[in-house]
Amino acid sequence: MKKIAIGLASSIIGMSFMMAANAADPKPQDVVEYRKAVYTIIGWNFKPIVAMVKGEVPFDAAAVARHAQYVEMMSKAAPEGFTKGSGPDVVKDTDAKLEIWTNWGKFETAMTNFQQESAKLVEVAKAGDESAIKAQFGKTAETCKACHKEFRKD
Ligand code: HEC
Repeated sequence: MKKIAIGLASSIIGMSFMMAANAADPKPQDVVEYRKAVYTIIGWNFKPIVAMVKGEVPFDAAAVARHAQYVEMMSKAAPEGFTKGSGPDVVKDTDAKLEIWTNWGKFETAMTNFQQESAKLVEVAKAGDESAIKAQFGKTAETCKACHKEFRKD
């Protein structure tokens, strides 16, 4: 009888933990939508910088700095978008590769590189030197490519 009572009590505790976890953890689909939104904002802000670097629109260091700040902020928001169980094995509508979760250390390094280079881009853009900005833009863009090549479906 005692055993049953303990068993019952622990399963009730277990259940309430499960419920707590469910309430706190976002659904996989929501995680995917979140990360796509983060990358949409990154892409949105990177685009005008690309156009300036290519000379398609007049170069404007202050505008680069403004857009780069959003990129930097989103680079810090991005990791939360890759919780366990939000990969292509669970959610269909994603370009994220399973390798993110099977090779987490490498993915984290790719993310850290991106965060560091985009933070530098903000600094350099604020300083205002056009050629330095262009050079740092190149380094930042490399971190996008490196991660996409390895961890995003084409
Ligand atoms: C650490 C890895 C990583 C880095 C760095 C990275 N991305 Fe991505 N990006 C991804 C992954 C993974 C996806 C796919 C997300 C999905 O479909 O779930 C993605 C998706 C995107 C998308 C499509 C979003 C959508 O709506 O489907 C854009 C645009 C994008 N990235 C732009 C960029 C730009 C620009 C940079 C650099 C400034 C960058 N990314 C850096 C991993 C990365």
